[in-house]
Amino acid sequence: MKITVLTLFPEMYEGFLKTSIIHRILEKGLAEIRIVDIRDYSNDKHRHVDDTPYGGGAGMLMKVDVVHRALLDNISNDHVYTVLTAPGRRPLVQKDLERLSTLDELVIVCGHYEGIDRRFERYIDEKVSIGDYVLTGGELPSMVMIDGILRLLDEGISAESLKEESFNDGLLEYPQYTRPPEYNGDKVPEVLQNGNHKEIRRYNLKMSLKETLENRPELLEKRELNKEEKELLAEVVNEL
Ligand SMILES: C[S@@+](CC[C@H](N)C(=O)[O-])C[C@H]1O[C@@H](n2cnc3c(N)ncnc32)[C@H](O)[C@@H]1O
Repeated sequence: MKITVLTLFPEMYEGFLKTSIIHRILEKGLAEIRIVDIRDYSNDKHRHVDDTPYGGGAGMLMKVDVVHRALLDNISNDHVYTVLTAPGRRPLVQKDLERLSTLDELVIVCGHYEGIDRRFERYIDEKVSIGDYVLTGGELPSMVMIDGILRLLDEGISAESLKEESFNDGLLEYPQYTRPPEYNGDKVPEVLQNGNHKEIRRYNLKMSLKETLENRPELLEKRELNKEEKELLAEVVNEL
């Protein structure tokens, strides 16, 4: 998969792309990421990319011609999927990352200042928000997207681990523990140490239902529970 990011702040990506799992995925050639400086497409001798909004108002807007030139120069054909970072949309969910991870090529355009001249929106396929809050620019949202997409391409993360993690199955992941078996009097649940895989699976499923009920109950409303899950959820509710 090839991902191109159009940004005014390419330096923000340096550490991100050289660290941990993201670095490993790129080293393995599972994805290619290009960071493009939008400023290179300014026709202005001072490399200006923004201007004041018509009608007044606070802040500066990125110019449509500059960003559009950057986009045109960095897509190989008209079918390349283009995303604009923008607050105020339905926030990104895991299913969106799964969908985006199946693309061959993706361009992410990062807004900054007060955003981009509205006329740029006709050249993009989708606007993506990472949450109902406003950040200074689309750079962190683009990294959130890249991180979430790339880890789905990683052969190093087992299918089992992806299957079990939060949201994958409409439930939150169950709590997990590692050594020591006891810390400050707090013990790892006995059942996880007894090696009985059937019991462990059932216990983890119950804990997953409990986590979801306590933290994101609306997820349970959206999901059809099977017989075993209904039984376990009833146990959870009884024990509350
Ligand atoms: C300061 S914000 C602009 C906010 C805009 N004036 C508004 O009120 O909606 C600058 C840019 O950061 C990016 N951005 C900020 N918050 C974001 C979020 N939650 N998700 C995605 N992008 C965001 C967008 O690209 C946005 O154009």
